[in-house]
Order: sequence, then C-alpha cells, then structure tokens
Amino acid sequence: MKKILDRITEEMKGAFTAAGYDATYGKVTLSNRPDLCEYQCNGAMAAAKAYKKKPIDIANGVVEHLKDSKIFEEVSAVMPGFINLKIGSSFLADYMNGMRTGEKLGMEPAEHPESVIVDYGGANVAKPLHVGHLRSAIIGESVKRIARFAGHHVIGDVHLGDWGLQMGLIITELHERKPELCYFDENYDGAYPEEAPFTIAELEEIYPTASKRSKEDEPYKEAAMQATYELQHGRKGYQALLQHILNVSVTDLKRNYANLNVDLWKGESDAQPYIPDMVQKMKDDGFAYVSDNALVVDVKEDTDTKEVPPCMLLKSDGASLYTTTDLATIVERMKLYNPDEIIYVVDKRQEMHFIQVFRCARKCGLVTDETGLKFLGFGTMNGKDGKPFKTRDGGVMRLEYLLKDINEEMLKKIEASRPMDEEEAEKISKIVGLSAVKYGDLSNQASKDYIFDVDRFTSSEGNTGPYILYTIVRIKSILRKYEEMGGTAGDGQITASANESEKALQLELTKFNSMMETAYEESAPHKICAYIYDLANAFNKFYHETKILAEEDEAKKAGYIALLTLTKEVLESCIDVLGFEAPERM
Ligand code: ARG
Repeated sequence: MKKILDRITEEMKGAFTAAGYDATYGKVTLSNRPDLCEYQCNGAMAAAKAYKKKPIDIANGVVEHLKDSKIFEEVSAVMPGFINLKIGSSFLADYMNGMRTGEKLGMEPAEHPESVIVDYGGANVAKPLHVGHLRSAIIGESVKRIARFAGHHVIGDVHLGDWGLQMGLIITELHERKPELCYFDENYDGAYPEEAPFTIAELEEIYPTASKRSKEDEPYKEAAMQATYELQHGRKGYQALLQHILNVSVTDLKRNYANLNVDLWKGESDAQPYIPDMVQKMKDDGFAYVSDNALVVDVKEDTDTKEVPPCMLLKSDGASLYTTTDLATIVERMKLYNPDEIIYVVDKRQEMHFIQVFRCARKCGLVTDETGLKFLGFGTMNGKDGKPFKTRDGGVMRLEYLLKDINEEMLKKIEASRPMDEEEAEKISKIVGLSAVKYGDLSNQASKDYIFDVDRFTSSEGNTGPYILYTIVRIKSILRKYEEMGGTAGDGQITASANESEKALQLELTKFNSMMETAYEESAPHKICAYIYDLANAFNKFYHETKILAEEDEAKKAGYIALLTLTKEVLESCIDVLGFEAPERM
C-alpha cells in the first residue's frame, strides 16, 4: 500500500499543478499544530518567492482545487500561507481496511530485496556473558527481524569470540592441572575422546584463574601465547580441545541466549582457514608491509580528524588478531553468502576497530564498492548510579542473573495483580519479564547509554514493555468476549470514525508502514517503540471513551471489533520485530 503521506502529497501536488504552480511545492508534512489540523503544506510560502505573489493568494488558489478531494474533509488556507489539512473519515476507513486485507499490514515489500548479514551477540566462549552481550543480542535480533519484515534476506551470525588469547589461557591452565591428557602429547596419534575433559562449571572457573595468573606470571603468560599460536597454526590436540571448549560453552550459551531468540552460531575460529590466503594476497598486492615486526596495512585518510592507526594483520610472532579474524570473516561471508550489506551490532567503544577493518577491507578489495559495511555501535547499560551496571558485589553483571532478577520482580507484580496459580504466574512473568528487558533497552536510541531500572522497566504504566503487553492483552480479552457473545472477530469492516479518539487511533495506525520503513533504513528499533507507545496510548484513550461490547448498533460494534483487530495485529507485528511476544492473559 502507498504510504498515507505519499497519497496526500500526490493529491497536493496535483492541486499545485492545477493552480498553475510547480508540483514540487506540494510537499506535505505531519502537522506541528495537531490542535488545528492533521497534516499541513507550507509550499505556498516557498512558491511565493518564485512566483512573486502573496503566499496566502497562492494557498487560496491551491485550496480551490482540493474542494472535491476524496482524501480531505477539511482544507483551509491560513495566514500567512499555510494549508491546513484534515483527512476524511471514509478515506481513512478505506485505508484501514486496506491495511487489514493487504500483506504485511500495508507495508510494501522491498523493491530490491537485499541480502544482509547481521553480526550480533558476540559472546566470548568460556567467559561468562555480560550485559554488553545482552545489548548486542537484543538490538541485533531486532535489527535482523526488522530487515526481514521489510522483505530482505537476512542472516544473523552470533560471531563468537573463540579465537584469541583466552583459548591459549584455557589450554595452558588445563595443561597445568591435567598434564597427562592426550591432547598435550604431541606424539599422540589416536582418536581424541568424545567427552570433554571439563564441565561448564570448571571451564568458567578455569578461565578467570588463568587470566588472573597470566597478569602476574610472565612465563605462564608466554606459555599461553605460545599455546594460542600453536592452536592457530593447527596443532591437533589443541584443535580438539577447542572443539570441546566450543561444544561445552555453546550448549551453555544457547541455554542462556534461549530467552533472546538468537539463532546462528559461527565464530572467529571459522574464519581461520581464510587467513593465510588473505594475508598472502594483501602482501602480493602491496598493501601489507612489515612495520616493527608486525604485518600492517595503512588505513589513514587525508580527511581524518583523529588518528587512525594502521590495521594490524599479524603480530611479530605470526599470531592473528581480532582485526585479522574480522577481515577473514568478511572474506568468508563474501564467499559463502555474497551479502549486499553487513551490519555489526557491537559496543560503540569498538568503533575504531571497525573503522580500521572496514577501510582495510575496501582498500584490499575484500568487498565490492557497493557492499555496505555498517557499524551499529551501542552505548553502555548503566545502573541507577549512572555507572556501568554491576552485580551487588561489584562484578560485571552476568546475563542470567539479570534476567532472573527481572523475572522475580515481574512475578511479584503479577501475583499481586490478580490471583492465579503458581505455574501460570511463572510462565507469564517470563514472557512479560522479557518484554521489560527488551523494551527497556530498545526504546533508547542504541548509540546512547541508558539506565537499567528494574522498577521502571517492569511497571505496567508508562513507556514500558509491560504497558504495551497490557494493551494487547486488553484487546485480546475484548475480542475473546465478542466471540463468546457469538460474534466473529474477522467479519466486520472498519467504518468511518465517529469521534475524535477513534479517528486519532486510525490516524496512528496509518503511520505503520512509513514508520517501519524508517526503522529499517536507520536500523532503529527505538522508532518502533516510540510508535507503539503512541499507538497504545491512542488505543487506550479510545477504549476509555467508547462503549465497545455494549454498543447496540451491531454494524458499528463489528466495525469497532475490526479496528481492534487491526490495532492488535499492528502491535503484535511490532513487538514481534522487537523480539518479544504477548501472553493471552496477564
Ligand atoms: N567478542 C567480541 C567482544 O566480546 C564482540 C564481537 C563483535 N563482532 C565482531 N565481528 N567483531 O567484544
């Protein structure tokens, strides 16, 4: 379906042309005086200069040609030359019914579907998940779903951190503890055991121990670096250990991320096979050179206002780095998926890393000129004290504890709101708790820091996930009652609005397709949150001012029900792309 603003603008341009002016002056915007009108056109002011006439005369002339418009019910020229517009109720009702029957609630499928890779989550294997990974997962999942809704082909990749020094540290610590294991015997040529030589609990203890020790114990650190190098250069026993580490952690991560609906599980180590050829080519092409024993590519540009250091490919010992795996991952992705765009949802403090990687990738021809490389940097999640969110004992908050805290708070609130059995209450609090966390995060512009406030996020009032869910559940309950009374919710047609709040709700609904398009173009889930908050408010106002089920005129009642159904579908599509869902009851 055409966006409503495009329909209106078309009509307005027609009127400018008919009145003898250039069509470009017929640009329409949402009204900035909603008390006076719904949309407005300021074109007469600009046209006045070009045609050397008074703006109000031009406006009056244009308005003449809109008298019979099927779109507007009120068009007026006001001083000094604004054209104020109100949409006609039947046009609006038709638009509503078009949304109901059209695909994707009136959002046109992408004209040129692109293939997009969203790189998000980014958990580090064997290290506990922390809130940074939570943000990446929440935002990335939503960015992915928005792009899919817009008709693009999207692959989400969690891009695990499974290739750095942390692997060498784990190997070294394990070696200290269990030197007899066959993985450490270079002469061993049998098959390696299927069972991992550690549990997830051990693994999670091994890493911090090793990391701490490496900071105080130089030979230990060197051993870990050596192990990393050997792992990266294909030592068989270490590769087998890496597989164990991956299996054990990914199982745990999946359980942890399960709440967050993340789906693809590749990692830095998958890019390893692409590194040697990539590096060789960069050397052959004359881009990579040795500087201070390391292999680097210059990526600074004349227009830089801050220093952009060379992109490091290999350390002096030949070990690859974070930049190397990211570059090789680009090679891999181009080869396997040939994407039009790759979007990275990562902490904004990594911006410089991505500037280097993107520039290097372009300079060395790893991508085409058209391939989009986009860094979607997000801000920090802070506690109420304004400092990065911490646990009670001051450590970095683990994701599972955070979700547990939210669910507990939600459970308390839900049990207090109405009596229900324990099992149901727990099920509901999980669903609503997830909405609280995700909405609390996504309603802020991603790049900004925000304050994680359990109390506010779990509140059923205000701009929160639970408030949106309450609104959906309220609609579901009305629709259920309507059916219990013998009605069929899908039957009616939305009718021309008879009062202000009904019209306001319909006007809000018309904005869905253009809002969604913007959310896609800007990778901006917060625009969807802002929209559904307005929509939920418009609905609740309508609900409080209208007798719906008690309406005696059956056709009118069926019209209301159809409007409710559309409102529910729009809200549900929005929360679906935000990555959560609504329960049947709350
Ligand atoms: N594992 C990284 C970290 O925890 C994030 C990975 C982000 N994605 C990427 N392609 N570099 O900081």
